[in-house]
Amino acid sequence: MKDSGYDIQDFRDIAPVFGTMDDFHSLSKAVHKRGIKLVLDFVPNHSSNLHEWFQKSVKREVPYADYYIWADAKGFGTEATPIPPNNWRSVFGGSAWEWNQERRQFYLHQFLKEQPDLNYRNPLVLEEMKNVMQFWLDQGVDGFRLDAVAHLFEDEDLRDEMVKDEDATDEYSQLDHKYTFNLPEVLDVLREFRIVLDKNSENATKIMMTEAYMPVEKLMAYYGNKSHPIAHFPLNFALISASQKNITAQSIYTAVSTWMNNLPKGAWPNWVIGNHDNSRAATRFGAELVDAINMIALLLPGTPVTYNGEEIGMEDADVSWEQTKDTAGINAGPKKYKQFSRDPERTPMQWDAGINAGFSNANQTWLPVNTNYKTLNVESQLNEKWSHIKVYKQLTEARKTEAIMNGGLDIHILEDSVLVYTRVREGFPGYVVVVNFAPDTVTVDITNLAHMPNESSVYTFSTTYAHSFTAKKRISNSAVVLPGKGGLVLTFVPDFPKEVISL
Ligand code: GLC
Repeated sequence: MKDSGYDIQDFRDIAPVFGTMDDFHSLSKAVHKRGIKLVLDFVPNHSSNLHEWFQKSVKREVPYADYYIWADAKGFGTEATPIPPNNWRSVFGGSAWEWNQERRQFYLHQFLKEQPDLNYRNPLVLEEMKNVMQFWLDQGVDGFRLDAVAHLFEDEDLRDEMVKDEDATDEYSQLDHKYTFNLPEVLDVLREFRIVLDKNSENATKIMMTEAYMPVEKLMAYYGNKSHPIAHFPLNFALISASQKNITAQSIYTAVSTWMNNLPKGAWPNWVIGNHDNSRAATRFGAELVDAINMIALLLPGTPVTYNGEEIGMEDADVSWEQTKDTAGINAGPKKYKQFSRDPERTPMQWDAGINAGFSNANQTWLPVNTNYKTLNVESQLNEKWSHIKVYKQLTEARKTEAIMNGGLDIHILEDSVLVYTRVREGFPGYVVVVNFAPDTVTVDITNLAHMPNESSVYTFSTTYAHSFTAKKRISNSAVVLPGKGGLVLTFVPDFPKEVISL
């Protein structure tokens, strides 16, 4: 638990803090019975330093000696302190090299020192990890989210990295990671993983999503191509990046259109709203915009990715230094831990107003429950007349329609602060999403959008709009009045020119 589960000691078991293999099987059975697919996080880049392979690698035992990236010291300083082979840095700060006194060599860790990097230049390692994948497929999982894939390879000559931005607040961002990030070999290994998945896809597709933060143009290579597909989709963090700056109709428009314009032909898009590594959506976008962001992400073409709790608008919790569990935070020390700790977005799911928010009946939870749980929880939102979860449920209903699943996309900015897009498929009801990012009321005319009739009817609206709209009510498309900070989804019968049949 040095990295909350990303430091794996046995790739073929469930860690006791989470349960047993029997628990896993009952979970798998329970979700499959409900028609839900089960996708596991697969961590190919590193193991825990407590993994048997690493322990044996330290002892140079055959065949494990080269399972990890080992390198000699560059020299020895005062008091015989070993000097790391080069200047590479860990994502979590400090050198990416850790000295091992027993083997008298350094090992590489792109993340924590308790997470030694596996050596993918050793074909045995790739074989082992393909077998791990097959093991979980045999247990009935429906696919994987592949963790930190851009870190799989490093420069064989261990060349130093150049300084890119001396003033960057985190040490990792100061260097240009030309020799440790997104090397061309990464795609070859991912292709091998995809072949394993495809071999197991006779009855149903086993999905592969990859996690890598990089500019959209570079990320598209992770889709592979028609004859050599790689990921079904590389996770798209554009909405997360957009929310870390000034959120405007323009910034969200740019995030969406850049992705769509770079997407290879026939590739399936996706939209990540939040995850366990970034502040919660309600904290990043502002609580008023939670429903609007869910509307945008759930009704765009492709797959939306929601982090647990974000369907009810959970917010970052205030986690004290004493309560901090994330090593990325702990390593930064009591003064700077808040800048690096990911604990605030990892507090327990808020189910109800009972003990531990209904998440656990233990005396204490791993991380504290957010103090707002008494009012912000699933149960109370289900009892309220209008709430985030009710909006979210309506959006998932809409996802079952032809227009949302297979329709075209037409996206625009109106009056500077309004983002609007339509989803239309001939012969089916169309949808239009209209979001006002400004704090003041704006009136827009949406009749100029493709296939738009003069009237539409209200499908769903933000909780911030609860007093302004009524479901199913017909409204005029030439003057849609949008109060500040909120979103609206309308449905309409698309106008398609009638076919003229001449006799
Ligand atoms: C990914 C995970 C993150 C973890 C890291 C190392 O980025 O999302 O939580 O710390 O990989 O495994």
